[in-house]
Order: sequence, then structure tokens, then C-alpha cells
Amino acid sequence: MRHLITPLDFTVEELEKLFDLANDIENNKAKYAHACDGKILATCFYEPSTRTRLSFESAMLQLGGHVLGFSDAGSSSAAKGESVSDTIRMISAYTDICAMRHPKEGSAMVASQAASIPVINAGDGGHQHPTQTLTDLLTIRSLKGRLNNFTIGLCGDLKFGRTVHSLIKALTRYDNIKFVFVSPEELKVPDYIIEILKEKNIPFEEVIRLEDVMPTLDLLYMTRVQRERFFNEEDYIRLKDFYVLDKAKMTLAKDDMLVLHPLPRVNEISVEIDQDPRAAYFRQGQYGVYVRMALILTLLELV
Ligand code: NCD
Repeated sequence: MRHLITPLDFTVEELEKLFDLANDIENNKAKYAHACDGKILATCFYEPSTRTRLSFESAMLQLGGHVLGFSDAGSSSAAKGESVSDTIRMISAYTDICAMRHPKEGSAMVASQAASIPVINAGDGGHQHPTQTLTDLLTIRSLKGRLNNFTIGLCGDLKFGRTVHSLIKALTRYDNIKFVFVSPEELKVPDYIIEILKEKNIPFEEVIRLEDVMPTLDLLYMTRVQRERFFNEEDYIRLKDFYVLDKAKMTLAKDDMLVLHPLPRVNEISVEIDQDPRAAYFRQGQYGVYVRMALILTLLELV
């Protein structure tokens, strides 16, 4: 039985197959409308979510399956002190596959060890968010036609942003990727990730000013400052509006640069950018449904 806990759980070849399937689903929805008839997806969300939980639920419903779950730890037996392992053991008896989001790093891994159904990590604390990465890669591949030969800027909260950590890890497997990390000093990429890049001789630079690097970027991945992971509110308030992508900054960018964002957006992208053809973040959210449909089919071995 397979799980998806980190973005490296699938090989590059397996990902290609998954993305081909997602694109086929995008173009031939009707063909898959009963692919999961009789199957049940559990969504166990111990942390807030809009896109990830609802796109999983939409994905399963569009495949003809059913969904059940909880969207608030307070309404589950976690509030009574039940462990993730015990919960997933029971969920395994009720459903066929589970997407789990939890504030603690490593929770999805722990759950997968106790589960008898496939477990999908839908975000574990500040650690990883592999299905967002699948969404990001599918978006890039679909809109740019390739997953190699890019200079990608990642901007904002690179310390606590799990989507950033997962995306960097995933992109280390493609050729000729250069990373440009744009963050304030306090929110730099964690050392353990920098070590991976150094070991693999992958070029990267770390800068503070977005304007300085904007003209060099093929992709710009903006992120929200992760308020819920800060130790004190003062630091959050000081850093929250450090970057605001606006029209003036976009004039410095290449004509075909894509702006990505896992969403939710707070202030880091001005709404005036939404009309810019380079703004791809809402299309990215749509790709999240197709890739989750493909993932459910793959983990349930229905393809
Ligand atoms: C992200 C997350 O939960 O890590 N959201 C998402 O799943 N699309 C990003 C964020 O919350 O900033």
C-alpha cells in the first residue's frame, strides 16, 4: 500500500504519469465520473483549510465517490486526547483513503504507520505539503510545457512555509533549475534545505529585495507570512507586509513570467495584479482538483 507523505515519495517518472492523467481528467471529465463509485475518502483536518480540503472533497465527488471527515480538531476525539494513530486506525475501518492535515510535523508519517488505507499528507505543520507541490508542478508543466530550465524566485515566509519546503525538494530532481530565495533575514529557508542544495550543487541565491531579482525570474512563487507558526504577534506584525507584489514591481518582470501562490493571499499580492495574464494563482487552484483526482485514482490503484 502506498501513501503520499513527502513530495519525493513518487519518482519523476511516476509524477509524469500522474500529471498526464491529471491533464486527461481535465480534458475528459466524463470518462472518470464513476471511477471511484463506492469508495470513501476521509478528510481529517486538524488545522484550517479551504482549498486543500474542499479540492480533495470535490475531487472524490467528481470521481463518483463519497467523502466524510472533520474540519476542526475540536470536533474530533483529538479534543478528548485521542492519538493520531488511534484515530487513523478507526478511520481505516470506515473509509478507503484519507487526506490528513495536522499542525505537528511528522503527523502524517505517524498516521501512515498505523493505517491500513493510503494516507495523504495534506500539510504537517511547517514541514511539508506534497499535494500543493503536485498542484504547483502540474500548473507549471501545463502552462509552461516543462519542469526544467527555470529560474524560480520564492518570496515571503521561506522559514515556516511548508509549500516552499516541499516545492524546493521536488524541483531538485529537475535539470537546470536555479533558485532565488527572497525573504527578510528572519524568514530565510531552513538550513536543512540549504544543505540539500549544496550537496546536489544546485545554484541558489538569497536576497532581501524582490525588485533586484525580478527581471531574472521565469517563475515567481509568492507566499503568505505564516502567522500561526510565529512565537509572538509583534514579529508577525513587523514582517507581515514586508513584500507586496504590485503593478510597479510587475513592470520589472519578464513578459512570460508566471506568478504562483498556494493561496490564501493576505496582502502580499495586490489585487490589481489579478487581471495580469501572468497571474496564475487562481488557475493553479483549479489544477489542484485535477491532480488530486489523479492522486486518488493512483493510490487506490484504479488506473
Ligand atoms: C498553504 C498551506 O496550508 O500551507 N495553503 C494551501 O494549502 N493552499 C499555504 C498557506 O496557508 O499559506
